[in-house]
Amino acid sequence: MVRTKKSKLYLFLLLVTFALVSACSATPETGEAPSEAVCSAIIDAKCVRCHYKTRICGALGTKSSRQWKKTLKFMIKQGAQLTEDEKNKVIACLISLPTGSNVVCQ
Ligand code: HEC
Repeated sequence: MVRTKKSKLYLFLLLVTFALVSACSATPETGEAPSEAVCSAIIDAKCVRCHYKTRICGALGTKSSRQWKKTLKFMIKQGAQLTEDEKNKVIACLISLPTGSNVVCQ
């Protein structure tokens, strides 16, 4: 009984989280996406130590914010040095940059 109640609660929380996440990703303009100059500066400083930006270029437009979060987590595991703030900025950049953006594809 207790178990069932608990899993219902989890399901509820999951749904709320999902609703919030999709509400956010439906309106990316409202989240303050950094300017291209800021994106470019962080990515040039933090993301080219281990691979070319073309790696990032190829992934533009293929990932949800959730997937980008996972990717960034993985990069940090590999040794990328990003503060929490930089990480969030890069994620916002990667979600907002259009496919083929000069920031990562030049
Ligand atoms: C410490 C090394 C390192 C740094 C710094 C780094 N990466 Fe990576 N990245 C890797 C490795 C290793 C792979 C290759 C994984 C593979 O072979 O698929 C990779 C692959 C990728 C890929 C392609 C695979 C995928 O999941 O789509 C993307 C996109 C990417 N990195 C984004 C970034 C971004 C954005 C940054 C800057 C915040 C960054 N990386 C910084 C190590 C790093």
